[in-house]
Amino acid sequence: MRRIVVTTALKYANGPIHLGHMVEDIQTDIWVRYHKMAGNECHYFCADDAHGTPIMIRAREEGITPEELIERAKREHKADFDAFMIDFDNYYTTHSPENKHFSELFFQRLLKAGAIVKHTVEQAYCEKDKIWLPDRFIRGTCPKCKAPDQYGDSCEVCSSTYQPTELIEPKCSVCGTAPVRKESEHYFFRLEVFGTKVKELIDSGYTHRSIGNKLDEWFKSGLKDWDISRDGPYFGFKIPGEDDKYFYVWFDAPIGYMASAQNYFERAGVDFEKIWNSPEYEIYHFIGKDIVYFHALFWPAMLMGAGFRTANKLFIHGFITVNGVKMSKSRGTFINASTYRKHLDPQYLRYYYAAKLTGGIDDIDLSLDDFVAKVNSDLVGKLANLASRSGPMLTGKLDSMLGELDEDGTALVKNIAAAKADILANYEKLDFAAVVRSVMALTDQANKYVDDNQPWALIKTDKEKTRKVLTAVLNSVRMLTIYFKPVLPVFAEKIEKFLNVAPLKFNDVESIIVNHKINVFERLVERIEQEKVNAMLEESKPAQAQPVEPAAPQMQYEELAPECTIEDFTKIDLRIAKVISAKKVEGADKLLQLELDLGFAKKNVFAGISKYYKPEELVGRKVVCAANLKPRKMKFGISEGMILAASLGDSEASVLGVDEKAQPGYRIH
Ligand code: 2FM
Ligand code: ZN
Repeated sequence: MRRIVVTTALKYANGPIHLGHMVEDIQTDIWVRYHKMAGNECHYFCADDAHGTPIMIRAREEGITPEELIERAKREHKADFDAFMIDFDNYYTTHSPENKHFSELFFQRLLKAGAIVKHTVEQAYCEKDKIWLPDRFIRGTCPKCKAPDQYGDSCEVCSSTYQPTELIEPKCSVCGTAPVRKESEHYFFRLEVFGTKVKELIDSGYTHRSIGNKLDEWFKSGLKDWDISRDGPYFGFKIPGEDDKYFYVWFDAPIGYMASAQNYFERAGVDFEKIWNSPEYEIYHFIGKDIVYFHALFWPAMLMGAGFRTANKLFIHGFITVNGVKMSKSRGTFINASTYRKHLDPQYLRYYYAAKLTGGIDDIDLSLDDFVAKVNSDLVGKLANLASRSGPMLTGKLDSMLGELDEDGTALVKNIAAAKADILANYEKLDFAAVVRSVMALTDQANKYVDDNQPWALIKTDKEKTRKVLTAVLNSVRMLTIYFKPVLPVFAEKIEKFLNVAPLKFNDVESIIVNHKINVFERLVERIEQEKVNAMLEESKPAQAQPVEPAAPQMQYEELAPECTIEDFTKIDLRIAKVISAKKVEGADKLLQLELDLGFAKKNVFAGISKYYKPEELVGRKVVCAANLKPRKMKFGISEGMILAASLGDSEASVLGVDEKAQPGYRIH
């Protein structure tokens, strides 16, 4: 018997579980269930990743404590995982006494090993919010392409990366004020001390060969010291001996794997440190390809420095795309697990992901049409149908009693049983797609046996022969269910109940059940209705602002202006702008002089709206500006554009409003 400990990446407590997370947990859960069914001891641990600035800020925004926030997140996450049948041995939190203990232990041991040093760093600080700002919490104009409102570390428009100090007009993303730069002393982990040993580990097959090149690049460019501390206020564990310094969230996160395991084993009275360091146990981490650096370099080095063994292997998977593209909120394809399960059976997704997972690191596409087609034709149309076309006949017309098998039936089940070694080998190497292919091919053979023997006709003439046929079919159902049990646990439970058998294990494919009483047949799985998929997508779209019913004024412009082409329209470069200042123009009753910020440029505009707005009503507002109008020389100066307003002739005007999300410089299409 093998003894195995398995983990999946810890989930941030400031966001919901979505179908992108789920691929990892479904993959891991299938693997864990496979091991348990094969008779191995296998434990699956995970936790919420509960520390860090985003969680602290989120709690502030919601007016609750970080502890309340992470408590709620954990409850919600666990409910999602339960619904998707993810069978953790322990789902814990990094904000736990065990994790505090291990984080301090690691820190002290690394200090002792000379692997921690102090450096002075300069960092952004928001004096208004009184927080240190991580790069992601600074926004400003990209220094390269001048796109407005980009993150402090990289630009989503031109993809360049840079230092937050290079951003043009940086702002705190919480309150919008400009951050200041302040110096502070931080603790750094000297990764390079363990460079040779980590390289050896990777060369020995610690992770997929296919990411070897990426890792080589990192080694070649030199392993840099890693900042593992943060100044307060920070939601995390205080560093021993410090008043207001905390472990960086990524320092205590992987330690959270151990803490979750410790919390579990402690309850069983087992000394966990022995398990972690025992050669009798295999340890595997399942992660996505976005966090390889942490798991292939930092984490093994931390373990080495603290005197713990490293995992046997990292299993890395790709990202999920939906209908061929990155999950997107506006398309409604950023689907949360809680939304999915309101509309669809989680087993469908387990089946579909299994059919796509090969153990490689390529991205996996959840093509919704293919998802509906595969589930309906294979899972429902072939596998469930095999049971539903034979089960009720035996219970309804043949006293629910299985008989013996005839010659063809024996050949059929022998053939199914013979696939065991291959199927188990594919489970072992995470090639679940191959498992699904083989089991479906065997299901086709069983369905052919039904078609060849036509039990619905046979029963009219020969009941006992029919019993033999149905006995072979139901034995096939039992075996196919055994193979699929790691993927479809609820389906398997229903079959166990129906066939009146104990929980099935892989070895059970080697036996058959004959002359055995079975139970009433219960429906196994429903077809997917397209409307349910549509409803799920609809619900995943961001909430739109409710249109306000306009008061019905007397319309004065009933006639439309002459038609123009789209080319005519797009000649005008309409941009979002923010009014920086506004003042009356001496000697011009109608005009207000406005200074507009377009993010990448400023413009001076004279607008004929002084009858309708006081200057101070406009300052700070976002407006729409026709930005490429030829500058016009006026008596009072040059007007470099126009702002858009709606009016009913001369009596009223209203400057066009702009959604809060739009930022200066955005182009209007
Ligand atoms: O990337 C993430 O979602 C992190 N919360 C993963 C942490 S995994 C481990 F190191 F704890
Ligand atoms: Zn701020």
